[in-house]
Amino acid sequence: MNKERKLIIAGNWKMNKTVAESLALAGNLKLELANIREVDIVVCPPFTALESVSKAILDSNLRLGAQNMSENNFGAFTGEICAGMLKEFSVRYVILGHSERRQYQKETDKMISQKAKAAHGASLKPIVCVGETLAEREAGQMEKVLETQVRGSLAGLTREQMVETIVAYEPVWAIGTGKTATTQQAQDTHAFIRGVLAKTFDEATAKKVRIQYGGSVKPNNARELMGQPDVDGALVGGAALEARSFADIIKNSI
Ligand code: PGA
Repeated sequence: MNKERKLIIAGNWKMNKTVAESLALAGNLKLELANIREVDIVVCPPFTALESVSKAILDSNLRLGAQNMSENNFGAFTGEICAGMLKEFSVRYVILGHSERRQYQKETDKMISQKAKAAHGASLKPIVCVGETLAEREAGQMEKVLETQVRGSLAGLTREQMVETIVAYEPVWAIGTGKTATTQQAQDTHAFIRGVLAKTFDEATAKKVRIQYGGSVKPNNARELMGQPDVDGALVGGAALEARSFADIIKNSI
């Protein structure tokens, strides 16, 4: 597939996989995906498996991501993990503001923008998630909600940092539900988000930012989704838990 921006496909393992299970999955992915150079491939295991997976994929084309981090760099924040700690395990990416964290941990756009700045401060590339609920979409609020999230969650980043930031558009109603946005809905929304980035930063910056689609991405819908001009990759949950399906999503996308 000939893309304007290099595809980036990330697997979000969420709160799944012991260390042993993580190693098994990483090992299988390494074998399955050994020859792929066209796509940036990222795996995001739980914190407890980062060290083991990091060592296991050291000599491979897989890159490591974390699922969250603190906006603070150190200190009395019980239970939190900071960017510097992630760097110890050669983590390169970090998912920020996933809708599950927005919902269950009440993360706000402001917190997410602080996390994004802290990530860049440690040379981690943030994958910043945005997405509307079904109620918001049906009430005709989608564009307003997305514009607020995009502007708020990326507030304060420099143009240089924005280019090194990945935006993940994940309609909340499509996550883990088996419902995917149609390719047209995905393309239209990605183009809208790129427009907001152009207004917030500038046209040239917006053109360079990779926007992933997330929400029930599977081997059988990956090709069509990735074929859209403004869809530059995927953030995959359920289908990333098995080597076969995650590898097929990537192979079907190139
Ligand atoms: P899903 O999750 O692929 O299981 O819908 C996507 C995500 O939450 O990132």
